[in-house]
Amino acid sequence: MLEIGTPLEKSDMLTTVTTYTAGPNEAKTGNARLDAGKWGLDWLHRAQEEQLALCLELEEIADSLPASVNRQKCIYAAKALGPLIKGIHHYEETVLFPQMQASPEANDHLAMTLERLKFEHCEDECFAEELTDALLRLGSGSAVNMEAVGYMLRGFFEGLRRHIAFEREHLLMGVRPDERPQAAANAVS
Ligand SMILES: [Fe+2]
Repeated sequence: MLEIGTPLEKSDMLTTVTTYTAGPNEAKTGNARLDAGKWGLDWLHRAQEEQLALCLELEEIADSLPASVNRQKCIYAAKALGPLIKGIHHYEETVLFPQMQASPEANDHLAMTLERLKFEHCEDECFAEELTDALLRLGSGSAVNMEAVGYMLRGFFEGLRRHIAFEREHLLMGVRPDERPQAAANAVS
């Protein structure tokens, strides 16, 4: 059986998590590429790509239920999930959102949008904890309710994809890393 903490092969994985670092520093995502980078909109775009890659992996796990489960992939996804989600939320809520609220263009609509996003973050973090437990059980070969796990997986990755799409449309509004406003770049560098 694969023990928690065992180094994992990542050859068939889309995300780049290499270590499990859900320590006291919530800013860490456990993703070597993200944790080595400086926060900013470039970082956020990479972080969103990592989240979408994780969604794809979770979808593949859901599609493999009940007979073709790759247990190593379940353990890997379980390890990546919590730290990645919490680290990104930490960045958004402590750096990006306050920066946007401080802008002279901030209005009530922005305030409502940020409240909605924070609420979704909270929901996703709770959901991610439940899903982590389910994936660890699946990965360890324990008996699980396959239908329930499939339902959880789909609920989570569909919700996360919607959240990222909403952020891109209503918050980043199509801003790409190479087009970012200098003010934003200065504020988060
Ligand atoms: Fe978010």
